[in-house]
Amino acid sequence: MTQSHPRISKAVIPAAGLGTRFLPATKATPKEMLPVVDKPAIQYVVEEAVSAGLDDVLMITGRNKRPLEDHFDRNYELESALQKKGDAGRLAKVQESSDLATMHYVRQGDPKGLGHAVLCAAPHVGHEPFAVLLGDDLIDPRDPLLKRMVEVQEQHGGSVVALMEVAPEQIHLYGCAAVDPTGDSDVVKVHDLVEKPSAADAPSNYAIIGRYVLDPHIFDILRKTEPGRGGEIQLTDALQQLAADEKVGGPVHGVVFKGRRYDTGDRGDYLRAIVRLACEREDLGPDFRTWLRSYVAEEM
Ligand code: G1P
Repeated sequence: MTQSHPRISKAVIPAAGLGTRFLPATKATPKEMLPVVDKPAIQYVVEEAVSAGLDDVLMITGRNKRPLEDHFDRNYELESALQKKGDAGRLAKVQESSDLATMHYVRQGDPKGLGHAVLCAAPHVGHEPFAVLLGDDLIDPRDPLLKRMVEVQEQHGGSVVALMEVAPEQIHLYGCAAVDPTGDSDVVKVHDLVEKPSAADAPSNYAIIGRYVLDPHIFDILRKTEPGRGGEIQLTDALQQLAADEKVGGPVHGVVFKGRRYDTGDRGDYLRAIVRLACEREDLGPDFRTWLRSYVAEEM
C-alpha cells in the first residue's frame, strides 16, 4: 500500500466563511486577516503548510476576501517606501508573506459547507493526495503535526486526519472518530466518523482538528454526498465513506496530536492564543509577561 504515492505538494485552505462570530470586526475584513499578535491568522496556517513541505497553496475564498490575495502578493508602494527609508526589518516583514508559497485562489460561490469547499479544489488538485488546513485551528510551529500526517500518509496510503482527545462535553463541536490502535503510539486506524455528535452518541472522545491529508477519491465521494448536519455538505461524511470501504481510496488513519493548538474561531480562545503567543515572543514576551503578572495579581 505504500510506494507509488506521489509526493504531497498541495495544500488547500478553505477560507470562504463569513466570520459572524467576530462581528463587527469581520464586517469588511475577512476573519482570516484578524491579527494574532502582529500577523494575520491565515499567515500562520500558510507557514505551517510550507514547513510541512507543501508550497503550492490553494485558498477557497468567497466575496469580500480580496484582502487575503493582497496579503500574499507584493506591495510595491510599501516596499519602495521602506526601501527609501532603509528600514530593512520592516521590509522583510512585508516581503515575507509574498515569498512564502505559490498561491492560487478559487471562489466557492454558494456556501454549501466544508465538503463543498474542498470539492472546489478538485480541478487544481487533480489525482494526487493533498492536505486541507482549516484556518480556525492554529498549530504551534514547535509541535509539527502536518509533517507527521504526511509521513503517515506516505507509509499507509489513503487519508489521514488529525485527532485530539477532548472532554466529552466538547465533542459536539467536532467531527468524532471511532478508532483502533496501531503499532505506532501516535497513530490510530479510523473505522467510523460522525460529524458533531452529542456526548451520548459520540463513539469516542477523539475530535478531528482542522488538518487532513486526503486521497483524491474524496472528490468522487463528495460529488455524491448529500447535505448532512446543518444542511451542509460535510467533509466528515465523505471521510466516513472512505473509512467504511478501503477498496475506494485506501484506509483512513488518525494522527493523535498532543501538542499546542489554538482555536482562533472562538473569541475567548482567540484572546488566549494572542496572550500565549505574545508571552513566548522574544521581542515582546519579556515586557508583556511582566505586565501580565502584575495585571493578574491586581485582578485576583
Ligand atoms: C469543521 C469540521 C469538523 C472539525 C472542525 C475542526 O467544523 O466540520 O468535523 O472537527 O472543523 O475545527 P467547524 O468548526 O467548521 O464547524
